[in-house]
Amino acid sequence: MKKVLIATEKPFSKQASDGIKALLQEKGHKVRTLEKYTDVNQLYEAVADVNALIVRSDLITKEVMAHAPNLEIVVRAGAGYDNIDLDAATQKGIVVENTPGQNSNAVAELVFGMTVMYIRKFFDGSTGTELLGKKIGIQGFGAVGRCVARIAKGFGMEVYALDTFAPEEVFEKAGVHHVKDINELYKTCQFISLHIPANSETVKSINYELLSKMPKNAVLINTARAEVIDEEGLIEMFQNREDFGYIADVAPKNKDLIAERFPKRFFFTPKKCGAQTSEANNNAGLAAAVQVNNFFESGDKKYQVNL
Ligand code: 3PG
Repeated sequence: MKKVLIATEKPFSKQASDGIKALLQEKGHKVRTLEKYTDVNQLYEAVADVNALIVRSDLITKEVMAHAPNLEIVVRAGAGYDNIDLDAATQKGIVVENTPGQNSNAVAELVFGMTVMYIRKFFDGSTGTELLGKKIGIQGFGAVGRCVARIAKGFGMEVYALDTFAPEEVFEKAGVHHVKDINELYKTCQFISLHIPANSETVKSINYELLSKMPKNAVLINTARAEVIDEEGLIEMFQNREDFGYIADVAPKNKDLIAERFPKRFFFTPKKCGAQTSEANNNAGLAAAVQVNNFFESGDKKYQVNL
């Protein structure tokens, strides 16, 4: 019997949470939940005796790990694991896993929900534009990027994608233009949708130099991470290009300044909600529970990210 904590500042749906507990309990594990916590001390206290942690965007720092002497595995129910200190985990021999692909459709659908609202002028009755025949560039062609391509094709868009890691067959199978040069992607596409992780190579990489290459009526869509944007460059782009709009599920630090100076040219969700559908909660949450079970049952580490 292992002790498992589901620690989610932004909780899963009740159905997903019950499902996760049931899967773990079936294997004899003891499960507790810590939801909507407001103070890191609550997390420190809750991890004191646990062997496994299931989290979402919760910050699992070196300090959290220091309060969890029995911790063997952390599963991030989702794709991005920039919220977990991988080096600290590795040093302590803690396995970190994610659940790739499980919430990707939810994020991709939000890309288009926000984009249609933006190009239809927030439904204020004035004349908007359509997506049919427009070019969209997908930066990062993993699970989310590929869902974005599928939906974009449904809208009749021309789809371009860039990913330094994905093999050629992936682009062929998706029926999209494979772009190998990032400048080319930004020069070609009126819409750019970001699906890259936040890491040492990508942080602040979306800068003015790149954005300024975008064609007229450029729209940048960010459902990835706020940190990949160079905010100074973003403000410069807003200033120099009156046709530019920015839509994000991960609001920038400068959101109030943008709201004041560039009204109607942005949309930011009040709270990150790309993966907040019951389907994505079930998919990612249940996958995390199965991964914890498999790890304790057979040592399976298929989705380990701190290799
Ligand atoms: C992810 O990386 O999977 C998404 O950003 C979802 O994050 P969330 O679980 O905090 O909603």
